[in-house]
This record gives sequence, C-alpha cells and structure tokens, in this order.
Amino acid sequence: MAMNLAKATDFHLPGLTDARTWLIQNIKVEERHLFWYQDWALGFGLSVDQLNQSCPPPAMDAVNHFLWSTNYRSGLAEGIAATNLAIEWATSDWTVQVYKGINNYRNRTDVVINTQTVAWLRAHALYDDVHPYEAKELIKRLCHDNPQLQAKALHAAEQGLAYYELALDECYKIQLAGHA
Ligand SMILES: [Fe+2]
Repeated sequence: MAMNLAKATDFHLPGLTDARTWLIQNIKVEERHLFWYQDWALGFGLSVDQLNQSCPPPAMDAVNHFLWSTNYRSGLAEGIAATNLAIEWATSDWTVQVYKGINNYRNRTDVVINTQTVAWLRAHALYDDVHPYEAKELIKRLCHDNPQLQAKALHAAEQGLAYYELALDECYKIQLAGHA
C-alpha cells in the first residue's frame, strides 16, 4: 500500500485524491494488525522469534513476490486491485469462516483463545470487510472511461487471487502432511 501511495500524485485524475486518503487510512489501520497477528500466533504456541524467522516455501511466498512486483511496476489502479481487492477481499472471506470455528479450540490446553488472541481474526472477519468494497469503488473511478486500465486492473486482481490460492493450497497441503 505504501508503494501505491507513492504513485498517488496525479491529482487531476478522477478518484486520485480519495485513493490517496484511503491508502493513508488503511495503512494506519494496519499499524495495529502486526501486533494482533503476533498475539494470534502466541495464542497458538508460536513465539515472535519463530514468526520473524519463518521462511515460507516458494508456493506460499509467490504471492508476496507478485505483490512486490505489481506494486512496484504497475499503475495505481492495478496495485490497489492486486493488493486490496484480491488479497483483502479473499482474506475477509476466509477469516469469517475461521472465526466461526475458533470456539472449537477453546478446550485445547495448548491453545489460548481470548479477546487478545482473536483480535486479528475478528478485525478481518468483522470490521475490515468494507475495505475491498471501498477498493472496488476507487478502482472504478481510477479507471473511469479507460478500458485499457480496466483490463489491467482486472488482470491484476485475477492474478492476485490465483497467487493467493497457490499459497493457501500449499498451506493446506503442509497442514495435511503434518497430520498424516
Ligand atoms: Fe490487516
């Protein structure tokens, strides 16, 4: 989002100023999410050190490389489509499902479920789900009357989802192997 914010300088373009304001606010929201994510991991028995030293396998890390590449090279609408439409939207969807099932862990002695350890999950399942819809409206304005930009933004969103799917499939595969 910071890379996309750096591109938001052509103030005469439709939706540009609003996209800039929105990115700044969204980045501010993410400030807390780092700590909430750590709390979630701690609740499930991971240390901050383990998190910091994690090295995702290539299939899981590919989405990160895609996002760096797209946000570095592409235009503003494409960057927002890849990051905030594809990734934030899909994250909203899966966190809703995981949040529903989180109570199943309450009886586990090795897991701590409380307000703090589910804050990240709760925020993404309940509060942050307006971000993708807002992103969609911003992209529509940024690409207004420009079919070429529209096609690029759509492609970026589709690619983002495909890379995210790759990461989640890999995560699932590792999880299954761990239980085998
Ligand atoms: Fe977040």
